[in-house]
Amino acid sequence: MSDYLSQLNDVQRQAVENTDGPVLVVAGPGSGKTRVLTYRIAHLIEKGVAPWEILALTFTNKAAKEMKERIEKIVGDKSDKVWAGTFHSIFARILRVEADKIGYPPNFTIYDTDDTKSVLSAIIKEMNLDKTVYNVNTIRSRISSAKSSLITPRLYAENETLSMQDRQANMPQISAIYLQIRRPLQTRRRHGFRRPLVPPLRTVAKEPRGAG
Ligand SMILES: Nc1ncnc2c1ncn2[C@@H]1O[C@H](COP(=O)(O)OP(=O)(O)OP(=O)(O)O)[C@@H](O)[C@H]1O
Ligand SMILES: [Mg+2]
Repeated sequence: MSDYLSQLNDVQRQAVENTDGPVLVVAGPGSGKTRVLTYRIAHLIEKGVAPWEILALTFTNKAAKEMKERIEKIVGDKSDKVWAGTFHSIFARILRVEADKIGYPPNFTIYDTDDTKSVLSAIIKEMNLDKTVYNVNTIRSRISSAKSSLITPRLYAENETLSMQDRQANMPQISAIYLQIRRPLQTRRRHGFRRPLVPPLRTVAKEPRGAG
């Protein structure tokens, strides 16, 4: 990785060498954005940053694979130690390592869409709600977007706008369903697909050094 800086144009080099604080790269397709990211990681390592202190997140598995391969090409074996992957894979990894800190067993498995739907159906049945009114897909999407906004079941229950929307949709019990969802998930040692994101955010916030 000796001569890597010479393989960059001026603006790329600026973004790579400026490691003191954040850098935002906005550039068109195929213009060398990934090259900037991967070389920046190589440069950080070259400057003495430990590979395991570097986190590279992507949205898709395809992008994660490309990123990992390209980092490996520049830094070699050390690339193994860089935390590179999709948001979900990295956060699931953090959760696996840090599970005990937030009261989860390390051997949980992750719920996919079908698992989540069957839990929701079971709750709807348990609560004696009309399953023709309480549509599993709608509920899943309401709860999923709440989770994306870090709205916990308790916050959901207190949220006037959400309650009003649920009443208007004839499903005032969604917040109660959301509260119930935790119980079966924990009992069965599972997490909803979106769930891995929430605990790691808290873990990192509570213990910035603990999550790597
Ligand atoms: N300064 C450069 N000199 C030579 N080749 C370069 C340079 N910057 C990028 N490239 C090459 O151009 C191609 C596109 O670069 P790269 O994949 O980094 O772009 P990108 O903006 O991430 O593309 P995409 O929009 O497809 O994600 C790659 O083959 C890369 O190696
Ligand atoms: Mg790219």
